[in-house]
Amino acid sequence: MMLELARVEAAYGHARALHGIDLVVDEGEVVCIVGRNGAGKTSTLRSIVQDLITVTGGSVRFGGEDLVGLAPHEVVRRGIGYVPEDRRVFASLTVTENLTVPRSFAGAGAGAGYWTPARVEELFPPLAEFRGRLAGNLSGGQQQMLSIARSLLTNPRMLLLDEPHEGLAPLVARSVVEAIGRLKSLGVSMLLSEQQLHLVHETADRLYVVDRGRIVFSGTVAEFDADEEIARRYLMVAG
Ligand SMILES: Nc1ncnc2c1ncn2[C@@H]1O[C@H](COP(=O)(O)OP(=O)(O)OP(=O)(O)O)[C@@H](O)[C@H]1O
Ligand SMILES: [Mg+2]
Repeated sequence: MMLELARVEAAYGHARALHGIDLVVDEGEVVCIVGRNGAGKTSTLRSIVQDLITVTGGSVRFGGEDLVGLAPHEVVRRGIGYVPEDRRVFASLTVTENLTVPRSFAGAGAGAGYWTPARVEELFPPLAEFRGRLAGNLSGGQQQMLSIARSLLTNPRMLLLDEPHEGLAPLVARSVVEAIGRLKSLGVSMLLSEQQLHLVHETADRLYVVDRGRIVFSGTVAEFDADEEIARRYLMVAG
């Protein structure tokens, strides 16, 4: 098992957000976390990268090593790339400059050295087109591509993506879906949070449904589809 969360509890200060998350991602898998707003998708990803949240119980193991208590950059060095919901590109730097910064972290992943600025531009052609543009002047979709590209340059063994399609126009969302498909075919394992079920169907091998800081369903996409009750109970907006 590449990534394994066991009974993970986590909190923001005194406010508990996760109450026992069990989740695994194997080599080469694409796994989705779905759930309503505030269910705990982002908090689960943060508890893996040790960012902004404090893990107060359970374990987060990656390649056999416990990540709890490490600094976020130490998690990155162990081969986990993280693309947070706010995308975190350097707005006042150009696209090319943004792609130069992450190389200081490179070399953690199994395919160390694979990703170069030229290769990420091949994956996301708009980045080549707008090399000299300030990242702050890119569209949301282009910033998302740049953020994923920056993560890839650290040559991660696993990518964590927090709602990578959120707020993107359908056409741009499509190019991100396609990029995820190509990354998968290159063997990059991924854990992503996603609100849009049709995109889950396109990308995921398996999925977890989270609700109020707990996993309430785990299975393949087909198993999820076979269980109408799950979507009704945990994903529909309460009316
Ligand atoms: N920085 C924070 N400080 C305090 N509480 C937070 C913080 N971020 C999230 N929470 C709380 O943690 C719980 C889980 O939120 P989380 O952001 O993980 O949900 P989510 O599933 O990602 O939701 P969304 O779909 O809105 O992104 C919620 O109760 C939320 O209010
Ligand atoms: Mg979130």
